[in-house]
Amino acid sequence: MSDQHVGHSNPSAPTSAGDKLAIVLAEFATPADLVAAAKKVRDAGYQLFDSHSPFPIHGIDDAMGIRRTKLPFISLTMGALGIVTALSMQWWMNGIDYKFWISGKPFISVPSSVPVGFELMVLFAAFSTLFGMLLLNGLPRFVNPIASSERFLRATDDKFFLTIQGRDKKCAPGTTLEFLRSLGAEFVEECWSRPAAPIPRNVWLGIITIALIALCPVFIIAKWRVIEKREPRFHVIFDMDFQTKFKPQKKSSLFADGRASRPQVAGTVLRGQLNADVKLYKGINPQDSGLQTALISLKQVTPATPTSGAVGAPASVDGGAALPNDPLDQIPWTTTFPIPVNAQTMARGQERYKIYCSMCHGLAGDGDGLVTLRAIELEQPTWVRPVSFHSEAIQNQPVGRLFHSITNGVRKMPGYGDQIPTEDRWAIILYLRALQKGRNSTLDDVPAELRDALNDL
Ligand code: HEC
Repeated sequence: MSDQHVGHSNPSAPTSAGDKLAIVLAEFATPADLVAAAKKVRDAGYQLFDSHSPFPIHGIDDAMGIRRTKLPFISLTMGALGIVTALSMQWWMNGIDYKFWISGKPFISVPSSVPVGFELMVLFAAFSTLFGMLLLNGLPRFVNPIASSERFLRATDDKFFLTIQGRDKKCAPGTTLEFLRSLGAEFVEECWSRPAAPIPRNVWLGIITIALIALCPVFIIAKWRVIEKREPRFHVIFDMDFQTKFKPQKKSSLFADGRASRPQVAGTVLRGQLNADVKLYKGINPQDSGLQTALISLKQVTPATPTSGAVGAPASVDGGAALPNDPLDQIPWTTTFPIPVNAQTMARGQERYKIYCSMCHGLAGDGDGLVTLRAIELEQPTWVRPVSFHSEAIQNQPVGRLFHSITNGVRKMPGYGDQIPTEDRWAIILYLRALQKGRNSTLDDVPAELRDALNDL
């Protein structure tokens, strides 16, 4: 592009053979002259020309034959490309490359891809609009040969200019000038540009050397961040990484035993963790004579982390099949509830059951929750189907045992003690009992005065 030719241009004539005609400009006295001239320049077949005026002139766009910008099409195309990129990226990542299964939802789903799709659409459209605009305008431009014309300065004051670019196919030295003069221009001028001088080799060498030296610290820091060393990592930003405080399991010369962590004072109990009520917290009958032995053996069979769920017994495929010599059978479980048994607790239990248990055990406790059904459909080899609550084994279990199961987990089922508060766990057991009663009762179980009401249903 002639615009890229750096250097001074001579308004009157080229100074050497390499000079190029950059711009032919014509100055007009009134806006009407400029509009009329623009029309004629367009009709004469010129394409790369422009008009310059101190204020916007009505009708100049039409006179020059300026077409609508292509920018909206660029933005639209790139926005659409952004959506397509986001969708295919997510589909490939979560549906093919690294399948990510969340609560049985499909791997490839449009709704979950919407946020990223929207973001990439905006990103692509915004950047392409900005850079497209710069590109279409031929920006950035380091020098404009028209700046060498002193008359042109009045384009922002009281004169009206028309410029034709030297690289226009019709533009030729001399003839274009005469053509513009014939349109009634007050003043015409040719701006010439010299070819840019090549950057000297030494300057290139200097630039490369400085760039390489500037990269050194970056490389050194990057290297120090990854190599194995006994000293702490090289730190650029300290933030709060090094503080004068004791960390667990660290040495300290402050205490005689050399440990930063202090041993607990004998008999310390965490706030809210006293759990002295064995009936409420462990589901054990406190009146039983073998209580102490029971507590000790319970400690031995209960896993340290409730979620591990394994009591050392293999998972049973039919679920819940009673194990021979199960140490849990020996525990004196409570058969009564430590919480008030009323409609309110029951409603709470039903609600919690639906939230925490129904997806595996099913709404009616048959062991046919959605997660279970999905696992069966996918033929998951490690899935154990939960036992039905209506099986005899579970019906015969005392409530304390059920409470223990959901608190600490049982075989393949994780414990829910950490997620569900104690009273809610009991409420769930209450509802579980109601589910069992509802399935296995006869009319004789209904109080006599309520039987008539049943007939009305
Ligand atoms: C992630 C799925 C899942 C959830 C959620 C779940 N369970 Fe289970 N549950 C199982 C499986 C699987 C088994 C069978 C475990 C086995 O046999 O290895 C089971 C077994 C049981 C048993 C039988 C225990 C025994 O002694 O055989 C009871 C009772 C039980 N669950 C109650 C509940 C309650 C109450 C909840 C809600 C707090 C619940 N489960 C939540 C999967 C689940």
